[in-house]
Amino acid sequence: MNAQQLREAYVKFFEERDHAHIGSASLVPENDPTVLFTTAGMHPLVPYLLGEKHPMGRRLVNFQKCIRTGDIDDVGDTSHLTFFEMLGNWSLGDYFKEESIEYSFDFLTNVLGFKKDQLAITVFAGEEGIPRDDTSAEIWKSKGFSDDQIFYYGKANNWWGPAGITGPCGPDTEIFYDTGQPKCSENCGPSCDCGKYTEIWNNVFMEYFKNRDGKYTPLKQKNVDTGMGLERVCRILQGVPSVYDSTVFKPIISKISEISGKKYVDPYLRDFRIIADHVRAAVFILADGVVPSKIGQGYILRRLIRRASRNMSKLGYDGPFMSKLAEVIVLEFGRSYPELVENKEFIFTSLTTEEEKFQKTLMRGLKKFNELVVENSDVKVLRGDLVFALFDTYGFPIELTAELAMEKGFTVDMKDFDNRFKEHQNKSRMDINGTFKGGLADNSERTTKLHTATHLLNAALRNLIDPNIRQKGSNITQERLRFDFNFPRKLTPEELQKVSDFVNDSIRENLPVTCEEMSRDEAKVLGAIGVFDSKYGDVVKVYTIGNVSCEICGGPHVTHTGELEGFKILKEESSASGIRRIKAVVGKF
Ligand code: SER
Repeated sequence: MNAQQLREAYVKFFEERDHAHIGSASLVPENDPTVLFTTAGMHPLVPYLLGEKHPMGRRLVNFQKCIRTGDIDDVGDTSHLTFFEMLGNWSLGDYFKEESIEYSFDFLTNVLGFKKDQLAITVFAGEEGIPRDDTSAEIWKSKGFSDDQIFYYGKANNWWGPAGITGPCGPDTEIFYDTGQPKCSENCGPSCDCGKYTEIWNNVFMEYFKNRDGKYTPLKQKNVDTGMGLERVCRILQGVPSVYDSTVFKPIISKISEISGKKYVDPYLRDFRIIADHVRAAVFILADGVVPSKIGQGYILRRLIRRASRNMSKLGYDGPFMSKLAEVIVLEFGRSYPELVENKEFIFTSLTTEEEKFQKTLMRGLKKFNELVVENSDVKVLRGDLVFALFDTYGFPIELTAELAMEKGFTVDMKDFDNRFKEHQNKSRMDINGTFKGGLADNSERTTKLHTATHLLNAALRNLIDPNIRQKGSNITQERLRFDFNFPRKLTPEELQKVSDFVNDSIRENLPVTCEEMSRDEAKVLGAIGVFDSKYGDVVKVYTIGNVSCEICGGPHVTHTGELEGFKILKEESSASGIRRIKAVVGKF
């Protein structure tokens, strides 16, 4: 079974069991400042797991594009990926353990053809006052699983979430593929990483909310959140040694081989895999409108492109090549993810531009490197701080510095460099993790006000500046809103004043904010603004603010604009070519 067949079989199976197929959400979480990327199918569903009504109902299914950057340095082995697809099905306060386990078992054995003795199960052993999940164990036993196929683990293994500091979470039961190879030791089990077991599916029974004090309280509704990694299931079904040998990556690997003239064999395996993974991730990130930059998602994108470019040079190929590879990727994944096809020109050009930029960076780095060689010719050692500066300021890869230094008969103080590098990594990790700190389900009073302010700002720009203005991005933190929109030039101070006055007038009038559910077509007829794509489903929520704004949105919003108290624009700047960015705050001024 290939990836496309697997996606289709999965969706069909759950549709037949009354699940609505929701589209894959963007890799860039909308209105969620607490994460850089969507890391699981449940991310975009947090408000609904907390009890908000989902327009498509209480049973959902999809395949979701995800990025997890934590493992970026492990990419190159047989299984790690930065971008992957997750197959997921959800019950929002509908069915619970019994049906969820039944569905998974049915799908794995009857659709995918796994034998019961090829599977192993883990369940929550109980911890921190939360009892052992005997219910799940009993359900598995009733399907014919023997005691030695069922393993009990604590929170470290059989608990999922919250994805941030606070949010929905719960015990899970995980399904593993057992390769049949002998146990590596007496204690060998699914949590062991000897390779005997591979996790296939994770069924989370989300019935708790973890609050800021670390306490668990029961959720309003009991949910099921499941996730199955598409690439690893393909690997198992196809009986190949790594995800890169599966049909998911085959065409990409062949293209790399064609471009570089090298075979996908040792010593190049790792380089091939890094290039394949990173370029695929970059293509998907670009398709969601991110451009390479120094911060946030753009920084990750840049890192992926540069790393792929470096690995291609290791294969002996130095020119830009990514747009050629991207063509294959768009062809392979465009059917499931039409945004790739819609944005392909942007993807190809952005890749080439960034590759060329990196080449220039390398040239500058090389120049600096040669200067350092001359300056230090007496000692023939490159100090850690110099090597780090080459890396940090010139983007010059450390392996390259080491290689070139060796050629010149220099040594590099790697120990000092490593220390500096680790410090730098910890700092970026802290920066990235800091993004999680707010907790995912951050529907606090403050961010709610900023959501409503964003609608007013959007309306003001379209009413007063240009009716063709469209939202190109929105990001809300506790402190401020950030709104990106298309416009060819800087706004004048007078224009900004007008926009700000409009929003403040709307606040003073204390306009009611109302929400109505309707079909997408009705919303269109009503003139609601918003993205009319499938991810909103057939039924959408339309928020209306007095007679000022009418917009499709998931919420949450205040009930009256007066709650915002006041509005102030902090900054108007360029965000990308043709895109302006406004940062603003609400409160008493
Ligand atoms: N949220 C769970 C996971 O990421 C199940 O989808 O594994």
